[in-house]
Parts: sequence; structure tokens; C-alpha cells
Amino acid sequence: KNIPEVEELLSKMSLEEKIGQLNLLTPGGGVATGSVVSEDVEAKIKAGNVGGVFGVSSPEKVRQAQDIAVKSSRLGIPLLIGSDIIHGYKTTYPIPLGLSSSWDMELIQEAAQLAAKEATADGINWNFSPMVDIARDPRWGRIAEGAGEDPYLGSQVAKAMVKGYQGEDLTQPNTMIATVKHMALYGAPEAGRDYNSVDMSRLKMFNEYLPPYKAAVDAGVESVMTSFNDIDGIPASGNKWLLTDLLRERWGFGGFVVSDYTSVNEMIAHGMGDLQAVSAMAINAGLDMDMVGEGFLTTLKKSVEEGKVSEEQITKAARRILEAKHKLGLLDDPYRYSDERRPEKDILTRENRDFARKAATRSFVLLKKHNNTLPLAKDAKIALVGPLANNKNNMLGTWAPTGNPQLSVPILEGMKNVAPQAKISYAKGANISNDTSFAKKVNVFGERIQISEESPEALLREALDLANNSDIIVAVVGEATEMSGEAASRTDIRIPASQKKLINELAKTGKPVVLVLMSGRPLDISEEMVLPVSILQVWHPGVEAGNAVADVIFGDYNPSGKLTNSWPRSVGQVPIHYRMKTTGRPGPENGDFQKFKTNYLDSPNSPLLPFGFGLSYTTFEYSNVKAGSKDLAKDGSIQLSATVTNTGDRDGEEIVQLYIHDKVRSVTPPGKELKGFKKVMLKKGESKTVSFKISAEDLKFYNSSLEHVAEPGEFEFFIAGSSDADFEASFTLKK
Ligand code: IFM
Repeated sequence: KNIPEVEELLSKMSLEEKIGQLNLLTPGGGVATGSVVSEDVEAKIKAGNVGGVFGVSSPEKVRQAQDIAVKSSRLGIPLLIGSDIIHGYKTTYPIPLGLSSSWDMELIQEAAQLAAKEATADGINWNFSPMVDIARDPRWGRIAEGAGEDPYLGSQVAKAMVKGYQGEDLTQPNTMIATVKHMALYGAPEAGRDYNSVDMSRLKMFNEYLPPYKAAVDAGVESVMTSFNDIDGIPASGNKWLLTDLLRERWGFGGFVVSDYTSVNEMIAHGMGDLQAVSAMAINAGLDMDMVGEGFLTTLKKSVEEGKVSEEQITKAARRILEAKHKLGLLDDPYRYSDERRPEKDILTRENRDFARKAATRSFVLLKKHNNTLPLAKDAKIALVGPLANNKNNMLGTWAPTGNPQLSVPILEGMKNVAPQAKISYAKGANISNDTSFAKKVNVFGERIQISEESPEALLREALDLANNSDIIVAVVGEATEMSGEAASRTDIRIPASQKKLINELAKTGKPVVLVLMSGRPLDISEEMVLPVSILQVWHPGVEAGNAVADVIFGDYNPSGKLTNSWPRSVGQVPIHYRMKTTGRPGPENGDFQKFKTNYLDSPNSPLLPFGFGLSYTTFEYSNVKAGSKDLAKDGSIQLSATVTNTGDRDGEEIVQLYIHDKVRSVTPPGKELKGFKKVMLKKGESKTVSFKISAEDLKFYNSSLEHVAEPGEFEFFIAGSSDADFEASFTLKK
């Protein structure tokens, strides 16, 4: 339904002014992720050539920008003010892959809500998040920014984040427009190399890769960002099937679509023609706003004159941008987000930092327990070693351009805060990497890898001296912040050699060793898993890193996170995920090699650590897995349940997961599919019955005609603490 205020504006606008609304620029204040940065931004705003800017923040600067638009352009239309707020604004939370490992949708929604409160206090009204790209290849650096490999979990996270950012009412000054990105399939580049081509069947798209984008649309997301890759041979930013047939017509999306950074121009390199041709292709496909590249600004008028683009198409796009401004309340009050009193009140408050600390503790995944070393006594004599143990530069993780690394709590400081009685000595022990050319590439946004003047041998000696004089060793190792993220793909996903040497030498001391592992991706830790060490995965934990790590290693919080990606035994297994199909020649159950079956000569098929896996300081047992009834009517529902018991000697939380297998259907089914999860708190010795209500709707999939259907027949299921369990019961969906 048309909005009268918007229609009135449109009726006054020239073609040039409408095209101006489709132009998104950055004056370069933030981090530029492409080679182009906009020029003459102020003059262009005055001329009515700009619909939004990003990389501008603070109430003062945003007020200035709005002043230029409102007071100096002919129609005085305010600007959208965008930003990348990926895991917290100034209060940085763990990287999104870490947050997803909490499997806690309330927590994730609250994280987004607090990020919106902080960002809007600083003038921002439009966020380029959530990134919901399904990723199954840990070579791809941006796996850090998503929620892992699974469409069901990914959809829940997408929904929670959209709700958190946008709230109930976008005119409230503490909510902002969310952008689901990168539509579509950006997480599946060939060979895990960022920006590479994607080639995928429609069936796989619909069943496995598109659901999180759709979930965001269903949750009311107001903006969609296109991806850099092609889909069926057509780049996303110019793909009419994707942006119009699917997104608008099939899914009913009513907001606006923005390109990724210069992705319209990049269609030239994709082989789609010159700037005028690709810009026309993009607007005709359904793209509304052009980020940075100015192809729309410089060519659309000519294309209208030449009949290659209709004015109607441009009006439609301009209408969508104006409607977004209307929804934000900007047309009524352009200064709604320019309240100078807010930053002090809303940003980096104690409350927000406490939340970041809690969120980080919930994101950690205990990967290995050895000899009950963890949790540590608060008065222990500890050698804290490793290049990430006292390192502010690497705590925030990738894509935290609005966070300040210097405000982060290093692990050493956090351990002293939480256990003041502990005797902690510190040594770096190794460089993150000794490879200077690798370090140079990683250090593009700051000195993430610092190579010490001392020799690697001297660093190691110092750490071993401390280790030999302590009761326990805590080694904080892994990836620097910029070893994951955009344009940070790796072919070798092991811990760098410099640190592996340190780890191996520490393990030889015979002292109890805890590896606190940081990374922005699943790593290949096959060699570390067989050492006599405990391993706690902490991702890049955010601004409260040290306090959160200390809370967990000293036992104030019992870890409960579970992996949202399968961790491979070696890079040779990737892409890897738990939802693989059985194939006609299934691999042997026991992992032994069998000729003419789907398996490897040199590795089992199973991952090193399965999707959904994570340990606790206590233990949990599952029993009594059953269906409330044998049959499920097509319009009815059924309860699937299990008894979960805390069999250890500590209270703890467990993420209880339901997986099903559709035994016979018209298109080959996955071997198992996550269909539900619940996080439950169990006191030591306590048992609870955990149930999931399932109806035919939950059993739907896309068939070969891409219809969303549930087919009658038998479904097996199990309820367990990870995806690695056997089917225990079944039910039948009736005709
Ligand atoms: O939002 C990002 C996107 O994820 C990657 N390219 C740049 C955009 C704007 O910063």
C-alpha cells in the first residue's frame, strides 16, 4: 500500500533526484573493503545525488550530514546512515560464529538489540547485518561472520537477529533497519576462496542454502544485500530470478535491496558488459541501491533515454528507499538519531560490557577434557603462555570496525581479575606466525601479528622455564583476528607452525595443559586432539575476552556451547557438514575402509568433531527417547521426547538436539536433519524430560518441482547432545 507522504515526495522528484536516492556512498571514514572510496560526498548530497551514506557516526557528524541533505538539497530528503555492526557496536561481542555456538536465541536477540541501542545512539539507522550465509568450508574466512553449516539453526539465528535489530517499531530511536546478507549463496564459493564462483543446484539452494535468508524475510527484515558471486551464471546483483522472482514474488519481500560494495561495477569483470549495461541489468533485475560504485548515478538516466530502463523501474526503487526512510521516522524528524546525550548513556556501559562477558562465556565450546584439569583452582600456580595470552589486538575478532581493541580485556588481566589469589606468570612463548609475508597480509587493518625481536627459540625457552616452575599451564593460541573474515581464506587451517611447536613442547613437560584456542573458523586440530591436553574453543571473544575466559576456566561458568560446524580431520575433507546424504554406496559404519563404498583411503569420513558437539564440566546421559504416538496425522502434531540426566558432579546446561531422517521420499534425503533444540539447566543428579512438538509443517522439504511438501511415510529420529548419535525411534506421517 502506497504511503501518501512518500507518493507526494515522488511526485515532486525529477528523474535525477530519484536516481540520487539509489546512490549509497562512503566518505571513507570506516574501513574500506574495496578499492574505491567515494569522492565529493558533500557536493553530491547537496545536489540530491545521494540516498544514504555509511562510515559516518556520532550524533554530531550525523546531524551535519542530515543538515546538508535537509537544508541544502532541493527536496530536503534525509539520508539513511548505514554501518557494519556485525557483533556489537562499541561493546564487541564474540564473533557471530561464536555467538551461534551458544544456541541461545534469546541471548542472540538481546545481543542484536543492545547493538542497535548503541549504534542508534551514535547516529546509525541502518545495519548491514545479519550475515546468514550457510558455510561448510572452513577455508572460507567469512565463515566467522555466520552461524555455521545448518539451515535450521541458521534460520533461527537469522530471525533472532532481525528481531533484535529492528524491534517491534522501527520509529523507536533505539531500533534500526537490518540487512540480511549476502543474497545469495555467498558462503559456498568454490575451493573456499572468497569472492569465487558458486555453482549449485536449485534443489540444494532451496533445501540447504536459502532458508536463512527466507527466515529473515519472514521475520520482517527491511533490507537485503546482494552477494558478489554469480548464481546459475548470473551475478547476484543483476540476477532477476533471485531479486524479483524469488525474493519479491515468491517470498513477498517488501523492503529494499542494496548491492554489496561495488558489486554492480564488478559485473563488468564477471563478463556482463560495460558500466551502463551492468547498471541497467541490475536495476531491471530488482536491485534498488548501488553501494559506492555509482553505476546507477552515472548511467541510469542515459539508459532511460535510450529505452533500456523504464522510469517506472527507477520510481519503484526510489519509492522503496523513501519508504524505508518513512518507516524509520526520518521523514518526520531527520534528527531522530542525532541526540548528543545518548552516547554517554547508551554506549559501552557497564551493563553492556557485563552482557558481552556473559555472551562470550556462552559461546565457548569445551572440545576436550583431560584428567579433569578444568576448572582450575583459583589459587593455582599457573604459567600463562602463548601469543594470544596478553594481546589486546586480537580479542575482538574480524569485522569489528566500530570496536576499539585497546578497550578489550586480555586473558592475563581477566585471570587476575577473577582469581586474584592465583600465582600467574606470563610468557609469549611463540609468535602467532613466524612468516613475515603472511604477517604482512594479515596486518592490513592493524598489527595483528607482531613478530618479536627475540628469536623463536628464546621465546620458547622462556615459556618452558615458566611452565616447569608452575603447577598448570594455560596456553592461549590460535588465529589472529584478521586470519579469518573477508578476503582471509586459508588453504591450511591448522594452528600456525610456530605455535604448534610451542604446544608440543608444553605437552612434553608432563604438567597439566589447557589450550585456550582462538579462531574465526573451525580449525584442523587433529594433532592437538591426541596430545595430553584439555582444549577450550573461545573464538575471538570480544571486548570482555579475558574476564569471560577466566570465568570459564576457573569454573564460575560451566561451558555449554556446541559447535555449529563440523570440524574436519584435515582440509582434504572439506566442504564437510553433518547433513550429507547417505548416497547409494554408504560409507562403512565403523569407519574401516571398504572398496567401492564412499570413503577415503587415508581418512575416515566422519569429522574430527561433529556438528552440535561440545563438552561440559559435568556429564549428561540421554534415555527414554520416544515418540508420544506412532502416527502423526497430516494436520496434527506429535511429541518427541527424551530424558536427560546430569550424571556428573556439577550443575550445568545442556543443548538438547532433535534430528530426524525421512526414510523414503521423492528426492534423496539428508542422512539426518536438525529439527529442534532446547537449552536446559540441570542440577547435578537431576533428570528432565525434554520434548519437541513436531507437525507435518516441520517435515517439509523442497521437491524436484521446488514445491514445499511433507511426504507421508516413516521418519526415524534421535535426541542427543550432538549430531553424532544413532536413530532410536520412529513415527509415521499419515496420508
Ligand atoms: O556490508 C559489507 C559487506 O558484508 C562486505 N562488503 C562491504 C560491505 C559494506 O561495508
